[in-house]
Amino acid sequence: MLAGLSAPIPAIPARWLYDRRGSELFDEITRLSSYYPTRTEVALLQTIMPEVAASVPKGAAVVEFGAGSATKTPMLLEAVEAAAYVPVDISGDYLEQSARELQRRFPSLEVIPVIADFARPFALPQEVKNLPKLGFFPGSTIGNFVPWSATDLLRSFRALLEPGARLLIGMDRVKPVERMLAAYDEPQGITADFNRNLLTRINRELDGDIPLDAFRHEARWDEILSRVEMHLVATRDIEFSISGQKFRFAAGATIHTENSHKYGPRGSRVLLLAGGWTPVAEWTDGAEDFAEILAVAEPERFAP
Ligand code: AVJ
Repeated sequence: MLAGLSAPIPAIPARWLYDRRGSELFDEITRLSSYYPTRTEVALLQTIMPEVAASVPKGAAVVEFGAGSATKTPMLLEAVEAAAYVPVDISGDYLEQSARELQRRFPSLEVIPVIADFARPFALPQEVKNLPKLGFFPGSTIGNFVPWSATDLLRSFRALLEPGARLLIGMDRVKPVERMLAAYDEPQGITADFNRNLLTRINRELDGDIPLDAFRHEARWDEILSRVEMHLVATRDIEFSISGQKFRFAAGATIHTENSHKYGPRGSRVLLLAGGWTPVAEWTDGAEDFAEILAVAEPERFAP
């Protein structure tokens, strides 16, 4: 974390945004009218579930990368008549809690939470080894990863779930810049609080003395990289320390805190293919704001 902050382009990994307070603020973000992805994806999933269910085997083990949402996950588990559910998340507390709630709702489902960073190697529980696998990666979380690491991530999903498995993944689409920026910087200032909460967290957990009023939230669109970036911009020259290490920011210098990559139809499929997943179906909402893609891990072949 400190290494990133003293890099030529100061940056902090986006997962640092999601402590307890950060997760609460993100939850608030999903209810903002300007933040279209969550409600668009929920409505989309609602309508496509019968088709998804028709193209995946019944009685599969659903492996969700992330702790799962109280709305999206039950829709999928119900539609595909899942035999087992394996949520994988780095935050144990939240994982155990949401797993318990799901177990109450689906008493005969085998719920096996795995506490792990899904971006690092981990193993599936023995109990699901012989079941067909369906990976679930909603929310456009893939957009947080630069394509280079998104490809690694998809390849690691393939290695974990093995050839024959399916993956249902949500990806946010490219759309007019004003709408994309408005989703990450709104008058209510919730996204700004979400971004600046990072500084509060650093001060608390890493013994920092960053003056909170010295940074403001900024959302930027990078046309070439096709992504919204969140930054914290120094509003004046400042010096502060974290864990005894000194940092100096000139007015206007920024800390890059998150990327949210947006994909066109072709780009999303190429990303999946590069990661070892062959798209078999794709659905979007009427406005084509958000896409849900079903892909399959095909066995390796030695001919075209
Ligand atoms: C949870 C990563 C999908 O990038 O849209 C929302 C996070 N950041 N507002 C996104 C986020 C600022 C969100 N993801």
